[in-house]
Amino acid sequence: MAAESRVFQEGDAVLVVDNEDHRFLMFLGRGRSFQSHQGALRHEEIMGRGEGEVLSTNKGFPLVVLRPSLSEYIMTMRRRTQIIYPKDVALILVMADLYPGLTVVEAGLGSGSLALGVLRALAGTGRLVSYETRPEFREQAERNLRGLLGETPNHTIKDQDIYQGIAEREVDRVLLDLPEPWRLLPAVAEALAPGGILMCYLPTVLQIHHTVEEVRRDGRFTMIEVVESLVRPWHVAGPSVRPEHRMVAHTGFLIFARRFVGLPPAVDEAPAAADRS
Ligand SMILES: C[S@@+](CC[C@H](N)C(=O)[O-])C[C@H]1O[C@@H](n2cnc3c(N)ncnc32)[C@H](O)[C@@H]1O
Repeated sequence: MAAESRVFQEGDAVLVVDNEDHRFLMFLGRGRSFQSHQGALRHEEIMGRGEGEVLSTNKGFPLVVLRPSLSEYIMTMRRRTQIIYPKDVALILVMADLYPGLTVVEAGLGSGSLALGVLRALAGTGRLVSYETRPEFREQAERNLRGLLGETPNHTIKDQDIYQGIAEREVDRVLLDLPEPWRLLPAVAEALAPGGILMCYLPTVLQIHHTVEEVRRDGRFTMIEVVESLVRPWHVAGPSVRPEHRMVAHTGFLIFARRFVGLPPAVDEAPAAADRS
């Protein structure tokens, strides 16, 4: 996937940042304008200008124009579902080891946040198959994906209930953002290639507990890990250097497990004595 031109053109996604650090995502179109309390800027004035330039509103306020990073795009794009936040997308991309050439199945597509990260990692190669039952979510996700990535011929969206089965085989990664992933474990085990990785994203502890127990019971997965990420932003202004007063304290837990074939490796699943008392 080639780097984009530094010069903005019609249709490009642009992140506009004002001098109060307000961030606005827009798509350049002729006849359109950006508007805020600091004035207006016509999209035609951005077309032909370079990324990172400072332009002025009609009231003389500065605006920096940038191509949105993946994280900025996810946080400012339209969403009709809960999304997987960038901090968790980042962890998934590394811990589920997403790279070019893989075959990946995900459900549900939702607003497309995780799909954006996966498609970026696949870099135009391999294949992503997303299951999504709600057409209105699918349409929003398609707009979000097209807005950042353009056409993605290696992406297929299936309007199917994934609980009815996974048709794909020799899959390298299965990424599930669904309330009851344990219902899918037999299908995941059939779909995943040996060594393949399952990731489940779940918001509550009871879901994690039940899923991990069922993954263990299935007997075809190993290296089961559960993690969560807490990202604490910091305030740095003059001598005031401290954590921000507010942070996103909870999004979801991530379970990772790997498919193996053959005799199960020996694992000690008994809780430690200290955990039982
Ligand atoms: C929390 S959202 C997913 C968000 C998405 N991972 C993202 O990052 O934007 C859950 C999605 O799963 C879809 N869904 C729920 N059950 C499903 C099923 N059985 N098969 C396919 N999609 C399903 C819902 O319609 C919803 O869009």
